[in-house]
Amino acid sequence: MTSLSGITPSGHVQLGNYLGAVARWARATTPDDLYFVSDLHAMTSAHNPAKLRALTRETLAILLAVGIDPDLVFVQSDLLAEHASMTWVLECVCTFGEARRMIQFKEKSQGQSGVRLSLLTYPVLMVADILLYGADKVPVGADQAQHVELARTLAKRFNTQYGEVFVVPELVLPPAAARIRDLADPTRKMAKSARNSAGVVFVLDPPDLIQRKIGRAVTDGLGRLAYDPDGQPGVANLLEILAACTGESPADLAEQVKDYASLKSAVAEAVIEELRDVRKRTVELIDDRTELDRIRAAGARRARERARPRLNGALRMAGLG
Ligand code: TYM
Repeated sequence: MTSLSGITPSGHVQLGNYLGAVARWARATTPDDLYFVSDLHAMTSAHNPAKLRALTRETLAILLAVGIDPDLVFVQSDLLAEHASMTWVLECVCTFGEARRMIQFKEKSQGQSGVRLSLLTYPVLMVADILLYGADKVPVGADQAQHVELARTLAKRFNTQYGEVFVVPELVLPPAAARIRDLADPTRKMAKSARNSAGVVFVLDPPDLIQRKIGRAVTDGLGRLAYDPDGQPGVANLLEILAACTGESPADLAEQVKDYASLKSAVAEAVIEELRDVRKRTVELIDDRTELDRIRAAGARRARERARPRLNGALRMAGLG
């Protein structure tokens, strides 16, 4: 069994990434798992090269600080040839209609001019990321479910048309925190690239800032403590964050907490506790340039060994070489 997942350095890692994905990766690794920084994905909208490079290092440091085994991490662009080659082959079994139907493309392109072509095609890059390594489990948050579904479709299609080479992967969602919402606007999901960061807790935020952001989280005027994501999205979001930190269920927690103020302080305390060491270790790792470079180079070597046989097989089956 192999799990594989990635995180895009398009901004600072936020609490949704942490609870919905990264913390879970660290908790349940097997020796064949792979977790990577998908820096190629950060180029689908206007980006700053120096910032991308810095965020890639920071994100890699966070994966390690959270506790993922250094032997299991890599940076996607260190295997540019493999990922780009696999993407091309898979673009040749994906239809324009399938790409255009992706919700993230619709959301991110709506009302925008100069939309990059890569915004349309990047789900196929994500499919390539997954299929290259023969992963059978893909632990992600709910917003990536449609892309994993596309990976299943394209793997089956290629296998049927050209021969069995790909493992058909399975989506793995977390029990709680599959879609953490923005604290200032619980109708939106918490996102790295949110224009207003008041409702986004970043993994590297200092404790007093976390306290303030959670203290100001939008709830409602009902004064009723229940787990009701549709009727009370702000309160449900806080309960889910607490549930993901404590391992309890949001509905059980709703019965234990007496009012909104005590819910907020319980959430702030749990999140600050959860992130305290991560922040400290990340800062240490970013400062240790040689060690981070060494881990990155070793990760790239291991990932290449894993990717090559399947890539070569797929290229041959498609009639190349
Ligand atoms: P990215 O960087 O947007 O997010 C990284 C992971 O965090 C999850 N996530 C959330 N979970 C809960 N609540 C939220 N508010 C929230 N926001 C983000 C995401 O679902 C994801 O699991 N394209 C991907 C990265 C990627 C990838 C892959 C993932 C590239 N190749 C191959 C899996 C397999 C992305 O941009 O994730």
